[in-house]
Amino acid sequence: MRWEGDVLALLDQTELPEAERVLRLRTAGEVAEAIARMRVRGAPAVGLAGAYGVALESLRAQERGEDPVAAALRAAQQLRSVRPTAVNLSAAVDAMAELARAGAAPGRLVAEAQALHQRDLERSKRLIEHGVKLLRTGSRCLTHCHTGPLATGGGGTALGVLLEGHRRGLVAEVLVGETRPRLQGARLTALELGRAGVPYAIVADGASSSLIAAGRVDQVWIGADRVARNGDVANKVGSLGLGLACADGAVPFHVAFPWTTFDAALARGGDAEIEWRDSSEVLELAGRRVAAAGAQALNPAFDVTPARLVTAWITDVGVARSADELERFSGTATPRLEPASSPAAGRRTRG
Ligand code: MRU
Repeated sequence: MRWEGDVLALLDQTELPEAERVLRLRTAGEVAEAIARMRVRGAPAVGLAGAYGVALESLRAQERGEDPVAAALRAAQQLRSVRPTAVNLSAAVDAMAELARAGAAPGRLVAEAQALHQRDLERSKRLIEHGVKLLRTGSRCLTHCHTGPLATGGGGTALGVLLEGHRRGLVAEVLVGETRPRLQGARLTALELGRAGVPYAIVADGASSSLIAAGRVDQVWIGADRVARNGDVANKVGSLGLGLACADGAVPFHVAFPWTTFDAALARGGDAEIEWRDSSEVLELAGRRVAAAGAQALNPAFDVTPARLVTAWITDVGVARSADELERFSGTATPRLEPASSPAAGRRTRG
């Protein structure tokens, strides 16, 4: 993701790994479409795209001789809940709206989105430094979904730790959950691991628990979309099953995220809004229907892993070994952008 003059340049993640197509987005509507269809995805990246979307709309209004503040506020309203689970999106967009309301000119909004981008990059760096300390020489790790550089404004979260761990000779192998239905693991995590020369193997999501039980995995590393005050973790569907398998097999279950993903307003993970996506994502594979004629599907995109299954929360402000310790970070961490309200009802997103 890159700001280019007066547009947002974005690598279309839906085309990877086959093609590297860069989109040049000019309006908040185009950014909303890119987020809904997961052309940009991953909690931190979605938040940054949303922030740029607000700035874009205010710029466009100024060019047309219209009120940039009203345009920014409309854009914020449109963007903040396109994908509801990752708190990064609503938080970033709400912060931009607050600036606009205070009279920030379009140029100031662009600068703020760029500053958020830079801060996310620095957060990635810090959390990776904390995370690599938990690795042991020769660690065989398993990860789920995609949490690498493409999912953030910097070096990634959980996958960033594994990439850096491999560079330092600590990670011997990564097992990659393919992550049905959108295959973020098979398409994106595999791409980034392969480019970095990390030995890896993709596993069907259903194979992960038996591999953990068989002692094939030393540590599991995942990212997060929203972490509640009590340490519960909303993340890509399938994370809960990994947490349960790790607890049963006494395998460390690590959750890595920037502090912008911690939602101080959310008491328990069960109150997080879980996005339900269109059933076609489950009924089809690579755009072709594979399910039986007339079959129905449920498609919750995220699940909630209770804090009791988490071994450590790895953030840019430090590593917490208990939910109490994590909550204590709230007092010391740079205040996150204004928290969004978190209605519990599930909602379907098309894409
Ligand atoms: O639906 P996605 O692909 O946006 O889900 C992404 C995840 O669940 C990631 O684990 C999370 O956003 C962290 S990305 C650093």
